Amino acid sequence: MNEKINKLSIIKPDDWHIHLRENEVLNLVLPHTVKNFARCIAMPNLNKPIIDYSAAKKYSDLIIKKANSKNFRVFVPYYLNHNIDLKNFEIGIKQNYFFGAKLYPSNSTTNSKFGVNNLEKIYPALEILQENNSPLLIHAEKVDEKISIFDREKYFIDNELQEILKRFQNLKIVIEHISSEYGAQFVNDSSHPIASTVTLHHMLLTKKDVFNGDTNPHHYCMPVVKNEKDLIALRKFACSGNKKFFLGTDSAPHDLKYKEGTNNIKAGIYTSPIAIEMYTSIFEEENSLNNLETFSSINGANFYDLPLNSHKINIEKVNWINPDFTEDSKIKIKNFMGGQKIKWKVVSN
Ligand code: NCD
Ligand code: ZN
Repeated sequence: MNEKINKLSIIKPDDWHIHLRENEVLNLVLPHTVKNFARCIAMPNLNKPIIDYSAAKKYSDLIIKKANSKNFRVFVPYYLNHNIDLKNFEIGIKQNYFFGAKLYPSNSTTNSKFGVNNLEKIYPALEILQENNSPLLIHAEKVDEKISIFDREKYFIDNELQEILKRFQNLKIVIEHISSEYGAQFVNDSSHPIASTVTLHHMLLTKKDVFNGDTNPHHYCMPVVKNEKDLIALRKFACSGNKKFFLGTDSAPHDLKYKEGTNNIKAGIYTSPIAIEMYTSIFEEENSLNNLETFSSINGANFYDLPLNSHKINIEKVNWINPDFTEDSKIKIKNFMGGQKIKWKVVSN
């Protein structure tokens, strides 16, 4: 069957994993999210991580004010660390200032140095999450100099995640930006309440796009993109309509100065400007356009017990060139697939 679809109308999507940052970067990147997404989870790995509910409230209020759109909503998770103020944490969870909590293994990615290297330290917080049906969002990578960066997801699942699942059988868990066949298969097979976000870049790139010749800093992110078999597996799970997989861009802007001309390249790819369009292309390539809405606008809301959005967006087959950069006089961010032809466009919302 080769039906030609040129137009789609889907429930307005949600971005269940994004980095909106602060200050000038926030001002620059936020419009891309507000335009095509109704809700988002804004990650708490700011320069000063979000570890109290007044900071979470301040950050989400700021985003909402800047978004200037009456239907846009933002959720901010708590940044798990070794010095949790459990009282503040519990109030924040119960009053919905925190949308669950984010586990960054320390030194696994950008702004993760205050993260966790001893799971025992966060068990009391996980207890509170479980009691309140509040989710644990995980950057699922085990950091150990003996483990290759390509195997970090597998080791985290086998060692750390299994331990968490054993102790917290009813805890709702999301493995963020799932990056390997092993991880996606694990999520699929698990009988726990566990799901995964899938980025567009993990469904478009493999490690040769990062490490062939000089490292390409604009394709460097954590978890690092992997092999073709992994990419194929992620596409299969995301495009199949499987309830456990949903949209999270992990769009992670960095100014050019942290990407080029430095030995200390920051991990993160800025995909927001073309996110919906490229997810659409991927689903088209997989002959699965009929499952796009399920992935982008239904599965995540259902997993998080949230209502579906009432607005729709229209996407049409229109060629356009994605600008190279998102920039103003102070900040310059390389757009993922900048300068390239994009085959779909969100035409109204
Ligand atoms: C993210 C960032 O830049 O904050 N980077 C990334 O490579 N994805 C952090 C993260 O989600 O790992
Ligand atoms: Zn992220």
